[in-house]
Amino acid sequence: MTKEFNSEQIRAKFPFLSREVNEKPIIYLDSAASSQKPQQVLDKLLSTYSHGYANIHRGLHTLSEEATNAYEEVRFKIARFINASSKDEVIFTSGATMSLNLIANSYGLQNLKSGDEILITVAEHHANIIPWQMLCQKTGAKIVAVPVDNDGCFNTKELKDRVTKNTKIISVPHVSNVLGTIFPVKEISAIAHENNAICVVDGCQGVIHMPVDIQDIDCDFYVFSGHKLYGPSGIGVCWGKAEILADMPPFLGGGDMIDDVEIESATYSQPPSRFEAGTPPIAECIALGAAVDFVTDIGMDKIASHEKSLLLYGHQRLASVRGLSFVGTSPNKSGVISFTLDAAHPHDISTLIDQDGIAIRAGHHCAQPLMKFLNLSSTARASIAVYSEPEDFDALAISLEKVNRIFGA
Ligand code: ALA
Repeated sequence: MTKEFNSEQIRAKFPFLSREVNEKPIIYLDSAASSQKPQQVLDKLLSTYSHGYANIHRGLHTLSEEATNAYEEVRFKIARFINASSKDEVIFTSGATMSLNLIANSYGLQNLKSGDEILITVAEHHANIIPWQMLCQKTGAKIVAVPVDNDGCFNTKELKDRVTKNTKIISVPHVSNVLGTIFPVKEISAIAHENNAICVVDGCQGVIHMPVDIQDIDCDFYVFSGHKLYGPSGIGVCWGKAEILADMPPFLGGGDMIDDVEIESATYSQPPSRFEAGTPPIAECIALGAAVDFVTDIGMDKIASHEKSLLLYGHQRLASVRGLSFVGTSPNKSGVISFTLDAAHPHDISTLIDQDGIAIRAGHHCAQPLMKFLNLSSTARASIAVYSEPEDFDALAISLEKVNRIFGA
């Protein structure tokens, strides 16, 4: 029998909801920056460090074997979660930023040369810009950016118009962290492959809001961070197609990624361990497994449909606030509502509504090129998660009207 989405039961699993900020119950609308953690993730972190902790892949004693098994079990879980064909395609990294740096420094340095092109969009987070810029500085390749329209919608024709025989990598967000636009990643992957390029998807804001099937998307890399998926910080995923990973050189060198080492040379292990040098965040990875259990138990399809209605409600509710303009109104969006107020700067909005216990993000959201493209210096952004509820937007709307009044609007 399929379970219903029970908001009350889900909220009861998040200890942070019992705290107050400025003597008001907390309203956390900053989950796109980092999500709060359910009790089972906190318990797993504590129990691992308390009774199940040792270094992995190195010890022949019970604790090490237990920790290794628990760590490797999460690789299985992640593979199942995104429908990867093998657990060996799942590389643990410190987060999406490290994953993109790994791809740029390993695949990119090996495969790109002067004159090659990397297609991204104007809506990228800096993590999906800077590693490519650094790669271009080393190789002489160049970045070409595909625009979005005034509503923040993405038209694949704009992408097709910019693909050339020199395009080697197309790297796009699954969901924009500012606009909320859901990008047509399956179509983009097909375009990449028709043109002998690879497709990289920054899935940070995607995998947290909807079911992800990487075999269906058919991209070549899909990356995300654990801390936005109700897991700890310091752990993330770089999923890559096995045949591509097999040919990639290591990015970081050290323990656990080798086969045989001489003083002046070494051979490297197979993926994924070739890309996991050094002691990883072991307990954090194991707790990420608990986070995946948490969302899987609710059902990503149910989370998606709950959040879709909530986002719709949020737009309707905020539309009544005087002087509010939305930034990003694609009909196909998820997770975030960015906006500006005529009366107040986003930083002032954020500071003032904090007095009402409301947390949002204000600024450029690590997406300065998008801000420049939109002729904005910053926006305010309310972002939701599984524990968000319509009342959060009621409180936000009331608080924003207070800001209007403070600024004389
Ligand atoms: N990438 C995070 C955000 O959008 C930090 O807020």
